[in-house]
Amino acid sequence: MTPRLITEFNALPGGDFAAALAPVWENAGWVAEEVSMGRPFASAAELHEAMLALVKALPEEELLAFLNRHPDLGGADVRAGRVTVESDAEQSSIRLNALTPEQIAEWDGLNASYKARFGFPFILCVRRHHQASALAAIRARLNGTPEGELEAALQEIAWITRYRLADRIADHGIAGL
Ligand code: GUN
Repeated sequence: MTPRLITEFNALPGGDFAAALAPVWENAGWVAEEVSMGRPFASAAELHEAMLALVKALPEEELLAFLNRHPDLGGADVRAGRVTVESDAEQSSIRLNALTPEQIAEWDGLNASYKARFGFPFILCVRRHHQASALAAIRARLNGTPEGELEAALQEIAWITRYRLADRIADHGIAGL
């Protein structure tokens, strides 16, 4: 993927704009399609805020469905290479695609407990973690509240998508990555 300037993104035909940004959202290409109506965006940060606002405006049931389209960290789908290119690259970067049988059992158990407790998968911006800190994070977040975990999931998605957007916008100017 060749990074483009924000002005170049603004000038793309609608279909090309949506196609270029679709992978920023895990299995939710509709976000890129809907946000294309809001062009032009002055900056990558403004574009990111507009996309996040679309997700946060979803009715609860649709928001849960959106969260549930994220694969488990270290889950069977990533181990079998059945996830998006972006998720595969992120999870592979901390070797969640190459766990030992003991680690697989541990992650599978923790992911299942988290999902049973909160109704959506454990979501973490892997690009801000090592494998050990990701494991510590899921253990800690199993003790969270439903409201707190929903908020945490959205904050992590905000980070995941900032990184993915920054990969695509040359002059992104997004701080803290
Ligand atoms: N963090 C970054 N990508 C993903 C993903 O695809 N699934 C989950 N659960 N967390 C992520």
